[in-house]
Amino acid sequence: MIRTSARTAMSVSLAALLAAPAVTRAHSPHDCPPDLADRPTVGGHLEHADIVDGTVSLRRVLAAGEALFVARFNTCDGQGRPATTGAGERRLPDQPSFVRTSAPESNSCAGCHADPRPGGSGDIVANVFVLAQALDPVTFSVAPEHSNERNTPGMFGAGPIELLAREMTRDLQAQAVGLADGEHVLRTKGIEFEVEMQAGRVVASRGVDTDLVVRPFHQSGGVVSLREFTVNALNHHHGMQAEERFDLDPGHDLDPDHDGDGVTRELTVGDVTALTLWQASLGVPGRVLPADPRQRAAARRGERLFSAIGCDGCHRPALHLDDPVFVEPGPYNPPGTFADDTHAVAIDLTRVGEWPRLERSRRGGAVVRAYTDLKRHNLCDPPDMPDAVRHFCNELLDQGRPAQDGRPGAELFLTRKLWDAGSSAPYGHRGDLTTLAEATLAHGGEARATRDAFAALGVEDQRAVMDFLRSLQVLPADRRGHRDDHHAEHAPRHR
Ligand code: HEC
Ligand code: HEC
Repeated sequence: MIRTSARTAMSVSLAALLAAPAVTRAHSPHDCPPDLADRPTVGGHLEHADIVDGTVSLRRVLAAGEALFVARFNTCDGQGRPATTGAGERRLPDQPSFVRTSAPESNSCAGCHADPRPGGSGDIVANVFVLAQALDPVTFSVAPEHSNERNTPGMFGAGPIELLAREMTRDLQAQAVGLADGEHVLRTKGIEFEVEMQAGRVVASRGVDTDLVVRPFHQSGGVVSLREFTVNALNHHHGMQAEERFDLDPGHDLDPDHDGDGVTRELTVGDVTALTLWQASLGVPGRVLPADPRQRAAARRGERLFSAIGCDGCHRPALHLDDPVFVEPGPYNPPGTFADDTHAVAIDLTRVGEWPRLERSRRGGAVVRAYTDLKRHNLCDPPDMPDAVRHFCNELLDQGRPAQDGRPGAELFLTRKLWDAGSSAPYGHRGDLTTLAEATLAHGGEARATRDAFAALGVEDQRAVMDFLRSLQVLPADRRGHRDDHHAEHAPRHR
């Protein structure tokens, strides 16, 4: 394993990458079909081995990751999957090249993850109809019987989030070993997870799957790593097949042109490593305090109120990370996602990547101020309750979420990270709420008492809580330092 701790110049533009010597081009770009007089968008591909042994510098790797994230894939790159679904299953060939619902529905990752810049969140027009991609035939319906409609979150700080999840998984799995039959509470980073054991196995759990793997991605908590998500998204949204999922995975048919579009090796293991490391090393969200002293004082008061009324029970203001080194690939990747940790690359997220970087902790390790517990909760009041709050209970497909306390798994969502709340409108998993206050008042179920405490505050206090949340923002890429040293005049510009 390589420990790459060198300080690295970031913000390498696509143009600079394309102008770079051919060393980053481990194998040449694809050819277009013979009758198509054009060129692929992706100028070349990376080999994972060259990243691990340092043949390609980390700076180049991150630049390549960014270039792939913003690339508008075309026919010559292998865009489209005429013979397969977004889940990789075979189907009748000659499917439409784009379908808004079933996908492919977009040209680049940054087509959705764009706000305030690539890697960020998305407008409601960038919503995804999750699970529609698996349907054969494709669906043109947005009805909840076919898909879970989701708004696009941002990836700023996603590296630290994945590291937290890895450490939590390690802790939870270790604590479950040798437990007697019956109910137990497991604790990691101050967060409690209830489990029920039978014959040495977890048979039921709250907030996490029974394998005790904390899956921090998808708002429903279904994906373990940036890498797994990236491989899924490439195939789902763009019809771009990563070789680790298709060509090299015995779980598939090892057909080098699995999707029948005439292009092979659409994305190499090295390409996916680059995409993953770029996302993992994006800046960590920070804090922009209003320039006006009264508003600034209100934001600080709002921060205290946020905890006083219990919002911090789920939206944890700070979690401690033991080790800030992001090792890629991670330890819990499922089959079909590259997992060979004897060929890993490692970056210390407190030293490498876009600013502001992960904050080092005085007691070693790092502090992640993401306002989440990475646990699934149910924010749905029972349907028969008077004045039931059920805004977040619209989904019908459980998407792997097990039923909990006799309630459908589809009602469960991960505590939303709030560290970019001031930059990530619209709100809620569907993106159908335009203000932070509306999203707060939509909390029922496990959060009903806290929500009622918020509703009972005077309007000035409620505004103070919202001023606090609005101060949590994605910062400009070149800003050094950490959260409290930014003021409104430095605020990033938003659309
Ligand atoms: C059509 C819009 C769209 C495109 C294109 C898209 N995404 Fe996403 N992305 C989303 C949505 C919506 C979610 C949230 C999904 C959910 O909660 O179920 C998401 C979630 C993610 C997440 C998990 C974030 C989190 O905190 O849970 C990652 C990582 C990600 N996308 C990476 C990518 C990559 C890499 C690409 C390109 C290969 C890509 N996305 C293309 C819309 C998009
Ligand atoms: C029981 C756990 C829990 C408590 C307590 C809680 N939340 Fe949440 N919060 C969540 C979950 C889960 C979501 C994701 C909801 C969804 O989209 O399905 C969320 C989402 C949000 C969002 C939407 C953010 C976005 O980007 O879409 C805001 C704002 C928010 N919470 C604020 C608050 C405030 C303010 C309080 C205190 C009054 C609070 N929450 C208390 C679990 C909780």
